[in-house]
Amino acid sequence: MKNVIAAATALFAASASAHSWLACTDYDNTEMLKWMEGNSTLPFPITIDPTMPAYANFCKGWPRAKQNPGNWIEESSNYVWNLVANKFNGETAACHPSQRSPNQLGGAPRAQAKAGSTIRLMFGGNGHARGASVGGDPGYVTVYTKGEPESDITDLSEFTDENKLQSNGFSAESFAYPADPNVKSPTQGLQDKGNWQSLQLPKAMIPGRHMFVWVWSYEGKDQWSTCFDVDVSE
Ligand SMILES: *[C@@H]1O[C@H](CO)[C@@H](O)[C@H](O)[C@H]1NC(C)=O
Repeated sequence: MKNVIAAATALFAASASAHSWLACTDYDNTEMLKWMEGNSTLPFPITIDPTMPAYANFCKGWPRAKQNPGNWIEESSNYVWNLVANKFNGETAACHPSQRSPNQLGGAPRAQAKAGSTIRLMFGGNGHARGASVGGDPGYVTVYTKGEPESDITDLSEFTDENKLQSNGFSAESFAYPADPNVKSPTQGLQDKGNWQSLQLPKAMIPGRHMFVWVWSYEGKDQWSTCFDVDVSE
């Protein structure tokens, strides 16, 4: 029994350490990527973390119930939604309780975008960009939406192919250093603070509030979600 408890605790610790959530739903990383690259090649490299409050002005849209700029330690325990653990307990909601209605916190409005344009979602890495503590493969980030204004996804069963808007590799748009691909984890020196997903909004979107769920899956399972809205215009 003792071993069983030890194994369960180890499993929980492993899954608790690997988590990510959307920090921003409309982030301009043009300047940021140059800073990240430039600082990483200094004689004494400086890690630039785009999720830090100092860079919040690059964010033009926030997820539901997200602070601007936010405290990631607080958010990592209060704001992320663990799909696997909740499903195990019979809870099949798509979103964290704080994200089940289109609510925005003060000074953190939702993204505004034209139909047919691209918005850049941002999320943190923490070693996962090269597969650390997620089974060696960083997995996928997928965005689901109903495709109609004022129409929300509420349950896991709605993560369907029909509702799938776009799926990309978790680290398809990440900046990580050092370049040596054998450096795979933060303990080995990997720095992978910024990850993005450029989300192309369909041209035919009807103007209005559209709701989206961002889902990070790895080890073959949907693991974490963040829910957000975008005000779409023509
Ligand atoms: C390092 O980052 C800062 C922003 O934090 C930026 O102003 C500076 O130009 C960057 N340095 C290099 C060498 O890219």
